[in-house]
Amino acid sequence: MIELPWSDTEFAAVAGVVAERTGLVFPHARRTAVERGVREAMARSATVDLRAYGALLARDSALLDDLVTELTIGETYFFREPKHFAFVRESLLPDVVQRRGAGHAVRAWSAGCSTGEEAYSLAILLDEAHLPERPYVLATDLSRKSLQTARSASYRVWSLRGVPATTIARYFRHEPGADGSRNSGRYDLDARFRNRVTFEYLNFALDSYPALDTGTWGMDLIFCRNVLIYLDRRTTAYVAERLRRCLATDGWIVTASSDPMLSEFTDLEPTRTDWGVFYRRTKRTSLAPAMNRESATVPVVLRPAIAERASPLAVAAESEEHAITSDCLVLTRAEAAMAAGAYRQAAEGLRDLLADASASALHVRALANVEVAEAERACTAALGRHPLSVEHHYLRAVLLVALVRFDEAIRVARRIVYLDGNSAIGYFILGGLLRRTDDLAGARRAYRNAHDLLLAQPADALVPLSDGERAGRLAELASIELEMLSDTPIRMPQ
Ligand SMILES: C[S@@+](CC[C@H](N)C(=O)[O-])C[C@H]1O[C@@H](n2cnc3c(N)ncnc32)[C@H](O)[C@@H]1O
Repeated sequence: MIELPWSDTEFAAVAGVVAERTGLVFPHARRTAVERGVREAMARSATVDLRAYGALLARDSALLDDLVTELTIGETYFFREPKHFAFVRESLLPDVVQRRGAGHAVRAWSAGCSTGEEAYSLAILLDEAHLPERPYVLATDLSRKSLQTARSASYRVWSLRGVPATTIARYFRHEPGADGSRNSGRYDLDARFRNRVTFEYLNFALDSYPALDTGTWGMDLIFCRNVLIYLDRRTTAYVAERLRRCLATDGWIVTASSDPMLSEFTDLEPTRTDWGVFYRRTKRTSLAPAMNRESATVPVVLRPAIAERASPLAVAAESEEHAITSDCLVLTRAEAAMAAGAYRQAAEGLRDLLADASASALHVRALANVEVAEAERACTAALGRHPLSVEHHYLRAVLLVALVRFDEAIRVARRIVYLDGNSAIGYFILGGLLRRTDDLAGARRAYRNAHDLLLAQPADALVPLSDGERAGRLAELASIELEMLSDTPIRMPQ
């Protein structure tokens, strides 16, 4: 059957939903390719009517994900634009180390990472810099399919175009294809780099950044290259302001030469070069007009509480040496299963140990990665056995947020700070929830409490329940939250 091209109105119906939900716009030159992509996504969803499909897209995020993967341009490769990496190596890193001291763990974010080449290039660069503290590298994208590829860290030679052979030999293992040539087969990145990058879903058009739970705060460096060029102007303005607030003071944003000027939308100090514009958030930065969008829910990934527990490997080694108890071995096995991503197996393994508060909390964390509602039910049951466990209340609050049950989450967060008046994380959760429910005065009080509690501790003290964060860092995040609350909320311009 010959398919007729869509009318402008028909096309606009679908493109409008995509723009509303993601900020993505499509130039006329891409119209045929975009139509083809929409038709393919429609066929997968067994929808034939374009208007019905547009309506479905507006309420079904899985369908939107599928379409977005079809329509986004994920073009990327390792060390794309080498001058950007030279700038990071030669100017930015020495500046960060000098300003923040050797004990500072550098925070870098590949925002719009596509299939991961940019993020892994940053991780390699940071490794070669031999920084005293292990850096944190976050990588986010709108396309879940690209994120899946990124996590596998296995590439074709095309992703390595322009990369010196010595770098390839040092960091990749080549699995040749049928013809045995260097151009065929896969290049697998050295396993140690896979765990150095945290890949997460993040849609720039939503309000999930800056935030503690998405790791998007206190960034020394944000690479946001070749992404904003695909977004409409109002989303670009929204993203520019939010990215600025994700930066640490004196942190940098690197964009590509074809990207729009961010300093047109927010107060960042630009440095123009022939190969792109670098922006710096300086102390002088005044607060730009702000924007807000409906709350987005963030997927929960609850890892074992590393602040309080030794790593699975360390525990395993110890167990061999000292023949520790079988309960401890069950815990160790569960942690190892979690580290390997076998969350259901980890949860099953812990079922006989639920009378123990630590094992029970780990059980909830494992389930949270399988099914949030099930984890919340298990956590509620666990609170019957461990009513005074701050960790269980904390887990329940996080799960209720993920389930968009904000009123209950607020009650639980209040319970955390009632049980432990020194729980900075409790005040953080409470602050975030009160902000979401528009109790801005309450949110300010909660963040102020978190801030003061954190400042009273040594900057490098580990903060309980924080997934290994240090007091100094979190105090910085509390300041950012307070700064945002002292401002008008960030709204998507109309
Ligand atoms: C061309 S790639 C850029 C990859 C890499 N930054 C580089 O420069 O090599 C653009 C990426 O932006 C992502 N993207 C587009 N719109 C987005 C949005 N609203 N939120 C998050 N990511 C988005 C796409 O999924 C795509 O992976």
